[in-house]
Amino acid sequence: MPLPDPSLKANTGEQAPPILRAAAIHDVVYIHDLLETYANMGNLLPRPMSELYRHLRDFFVIEINGRVAACGALEIFTENLGEVRSLVVADAYKARGLGKLLVERIADEARQIGLRRLMALTYVPAFFHKLGFKTVAKDTLPEKVWGICLKCYKYNNCDETAVLLELK
Ligand SMILES: CC(C)(COP(=O)(O)OP(=O)(O)OC[C@H]1O[C@@H](n2cnc3c(N)ncnc32)[C@H](O)[C@@H]1OP(=O)(O)O)[C@@H](O)C(=O)NCCC(=O)NCCS
Repeated sequence: MPLPDPSLKANTGEQAPPILRAAAIHDVVYIHDLLETYANMGNLLPRPMSELYRHLRDFFVIEINGRVAACGALEIFTENLGEVRSLVVADAYKARGLGKLLVERIADEARQIGLRRLMALTYVPAFFHKLGFKTVAKDTLPEKVWGICLKCYKYNNCDETAVLLELK
């Protein structure tokens, strides 16, 4: 059966309040589209659909007017470290606080499950600094470097900034 097209759902106008929720199976195709847009610009790592299905339970989305307007994920490495991954706000919804809302939700989730530190690798460190993250050297995050980074095409010349939030 074809997936429902969220763009055809509840056309309630621009005023519909954003709904922040855990991602569901029918969101995967839209999360994939959002990530592809920024992956093509080199801002994010591309993630194939198969990986998104496997990691679906890491994801939160913000739905507006039945569309996935933003997404972000919490990936856990160890009890000491988790990562904000695949954080994207669609262009039409930027600068409305959605990115902040997602990172705060991810940080809350991380605290609830007892994680101690939350990191991100990013081209927008100033955005994360506003949310309490501090810039750190990448080699202070071996769980990340020896896991995901090793498989990344940018491994030898990564130009992203590592930022870290101590969770209390
Ligand atoms: C970075 C991104 C997630 C920010 O989302 P957003 O919804 O536009 O940001 P918000 O409206 O929540 O901004 C929260 C605060 O951060 C600031 N901010 C947002 N983007 C910023 C940027 N690029 N540089 C500096 N500050 C920024 C805002 O001004 C705001 O500050 P305020 O609280 O003092 O008003 C979004 O621009 C995006 O999807 N970028 C492309 C993909 C990407 O780079 N993702 C990050 C991967 S780690």
